[in-house]
Amino acid sequence: MEKLEQIKEQISQCDDKIINALVERMNYTRELISYKKENGIPILQPEQDEKQLAAFMVKIKENQYKNEILDTFLSIVKNSKKIQAKALFSYNIMLIGFMGTGKSTVSDYLGEMFAMDQIEMDALIASKEGMSIAEIFEEYGEEYFRDCESNTLIELQKENNVVISCGGGVVLREENIKYMKKKGKIVLLTANPETIYDRVKGSAERPILNNNMNVGFISELMEKRRVRYEMAADIIINTDGKSIQRICEELIGKLTAMES
Ligand code: S3P
Repeated sequence: MEKLEQIKEQISQCDDKIINALVERMNYTRELISYKKENGIPILQPEQDEKQLAAFMVKIKENQYKNEILDTFLSIVKNSKKIQAKALFSYNIMLIGFMGTGKSTVSDYLGEMFAMDQIEMDALIASKEGMSIAEIFEEYGEEYFRDCESNTLIELQKENNVVISCGGGVVLREENIKYMKKKGKIVLLTANPETIYDRVKGSAERPILNNNMNVGFISELMEKRRVRYEMAADIIINTDGKSIQRICEELIGKLTAMES
């Protein structure tokens, strides 16, 4: 019995060591982000993540607990990403912009890089209503859909440190912008009408463009909405011809510059 207590005590001491090591590691993660920010070094270095994993695999290659250690390590890396996200953004990132400007792609990339939770407003509305956005438009009309958007934005006020990808028409109501700004910074993504057309031409899921799938219509509607987008935006990022990494680096740079 004494032996059992002794083993339990040794395990508990190991836990203490793990806690201390994790605190030390997480502090270094925060230090790394501050250093990069202060010295204008790119925050996103996906190739570094790969190198780090490869180096870790070498360290545990012969270890009898290889799989368990790897599993734990991946969880540590994920949490380290979350710490980076919190160090960079103390708010929600609200992505706005015309259809096809890349809101979902940017959201996915930020989600991947910083282990941030992502919320896609259209998907949330579709799941709550139990039908697709196209079906909502067809069955209840645009005003009803716009009400769903406003209600969703009110609900989303409870979120913290998440990426929210908004529908392209969310800026049409003044009140929506107020809700978005309360706990978020608004990032406007832009692209040329030609780029947009190329990105959305195969989709039947955008009722606003049904029977209007051409560059002329896209260009006209974009122009009509331009002032509303620009008035709502905290920062603006043009996406034409840029890689997703570059777009997100620009986004991080502009958002963090806003604080100083
Ligand atoms: C709309 C954009 C769509 C969707 C709906 C209406 C708009 O979202 O909310 O079809 O009015 O611009 P995406 O911008 O994500 O395509």
